[in-house]
Amino acid sequence: MSCVSEIRVINTPQELFQAAAAEFIGLAEHFVHGHGRFTVALSGGSTPKHLYTLLASDVVPLIAWDKILFFFGDERHVPPDHPDSNYRMAKEFLFSKVPIPPENIFRIHTEEDAGTAARIYEETLQRVFKLKTGEFPGLDLILLGLGPDGHTASLFPGTAAFDESSRPVVANWVEKFQSYRITLTYPVINNAANVMFLVSGGDKASAVRQILQDGVDLPAKRVQPRDGRLLWLLDRAAAGELSKID
Ligand code: 6PG
Repeated sequence: MSCVSEIRVINTPQELFQAAAAEFIGLAEHFVHGHGRFTVALSGGSTPKHLYTLLASDVVPLIAWDKILFFFGDERHVPPDHPDSNYRMAKEFLFSKVPIPPENIFRIHTEEDAGTAARIYEETLQRVFKLKTGEFPGLDLILLGLGPDGHTASLFPGTAAFDESSRPVVANWVEKFQSYRITLTYPVINNAANVMFLVSGGDKASAVRQILQDGVDLPAKRVQPRDGRLLWLLDRAAAGELSKID
């Protein structure tokens, strides 16, 4: 099997988030029905807030929240109640609004030093996915965003994590932020059953073109799920530099 990928350009941001919510719900139903649970890694930053708000709204069909296990694709090295925390954002826009059992949320323990936080998260993945040494977790869905520089999760150009191929989680020093990030690495991301990029806004259009059209080796380009499905959900602005997609 190889990576099956799809690029979907959707007119407006609102329709983009509606499409992402529909994908999330469809996958949740599929995996809960077929496997009894749905394991998902959330992305951070600002874009996903709109998706999480939609999922938490009452217009969304009832989701089996108690059967969903929430992980994170990455985290800033700040306390969990810090304004920059991806956990805090997910809690504000999703976890605090729907009946998710607290034991179903696996945040990254950024109150520890970065290396310890990464090790604890790696041990959590090993425990939850019942992994043998050297095995990587196979999440059902990994949500990803895209930075204007082509980074995704906390895999930034020119950082150590960009070339990490053996560890599932690393503490990645990001010079431009003068701080650590804790991030899933490509062996985990490319082991997922589904990876969904959610990209909105013209500020991402250049990175989208470089990755999807020019084949530039930016971090998000290296997301190629081995046996999984790769879905790029773009609004019209983010797709603005792509020549016509067949
Ligand atoms: C993070 C994210 C990061 C994000 C991109 C896009 O921790 O910030 O994981 O990879 O998805 O930077 O961020 P925006 O959605 O805010 O543009």
